[in-house]
Amino acid sequence: MKVLVTGGAGYIGSVTSKLLLQSNHEVVIFDNLSRGHKAAIPKGTIFVQGDLADSVILNKTFNNHRIEYVIHFAAASLVEESVKNPNLYFQNNVVNGVNLLKSMIENNVKKIIFSSSAAVYGSPDIVPIPETAKINPINPYGGTKRIFEILLEEYDKACGLKYTSLRYFNVAGAYENLGEDHHPETHLIPLILRTALGEQKTFEIFGDDYDTRDGTCIRDYIHVYDLAIAHLLAMKILDQTSKVYNLGSENGTTVKEVFKTACEITGKEIPTKIVGRRAGDPPALIASSQKIKQDLGWQPKKTNLKAIIQDAWNWHQAHPLGYPE
Ligand code: UFG
Repeated sequence: MKVLVTGGAGYIGSVTSKLLLQSNHEVVIFDNLSRGHKAAIPKGTIFVQGDLADSVILNKTFNNHRIEYVIHFAAASLVEESVKNPNLYFQNNVVNGVNLLKSMIENNVKKIIFSSSAAVYGSPDIVPIPETAKINPINPYGGTKRIFEILLEEYDKACGLKYTSLRYFNVAGAYENLGEDHHPETHLIPLILRTALGEQKTFEIFGDDYDTRDGTCIRDYIHVYDLAIAHLLAMKILDQTSKVYNLGSENGTTVKEVFKTACEITGKEIPTKIVGRRAGDPPALIASSQKIKQDLGWQPKKTNLKAIIQDAWNWHQAHPLGYPE
């Protein structure tokens, strides 16, 4: 299959592209490199540097490469940034996304896997969260992911577009030579590990007054390899009906527990302090991933937090300054 991967130079996009290649798919990566890295683009893929706002280059890419299928990762994805700069999120995640859908329809490509997020649920009452839980995003990032899911529903009704929307929980770890390197970095595990490497003086815990077992937020950490594999499984069913699946490990871990595990793995005493809450953070997000397990036979292999942090630590030690720019 000839697959267009938007955001394929990013963290999850690069790992998925590598796995697609390893399964003998042809991969065309479309990325503007605003957040991705040239060095993360797997060898053997075709790379088009372009922006989803640019219909001319998008149409050319569909046409020149005879794309059959799209996996859409490209997006802005930081909760706090979305609170501070919602326009960026509406532009990147909604307007540019519609541009992609428009180009797909114009080029008769009607299959897409979409990177959605647990952020669509907001602060859910039911934990673990099933896909049927109330959709109620509490920050613009989650709001844009929800809007795009609604657009997919409407494109399905109007144009016969078939989609699988994968609602990611907290992705972490590394696969082969590919790891997590955001600028600025805001994610928990890379920040703890960067502090362990001395690149940041102190690791800050954002709030210890939540209603959780130790007062810090609970998240569900899923290995990037397991997450990426789910995309390959989803590709197999996409001819049939549109679907929405959660993707998490179904284990909840507090910030303090992640920190303690990272100290054990690195063997370092990592300087830390408690600071105030971060805007837009829900107290607890844990997935029910029963639906994707039942429907697609998805079985995560690296559910142990230690294994996830160990892989991330190996990558960070090998890339102390992230990817070369
Ligand atoms: N945290 C800290 N200190 C830090 C960084 C993070 O205490 O320096 C805390 C956060 O407050 C939060 C937890 O660690 O409670 C996880 O934060 P991340 O920034 O790593 O991840 P988020 O849960 O905010 O968001 C991530 C993705 C989103 C996705 C969401 C789904 O960035 O795209 O997981 O759960 F929607």
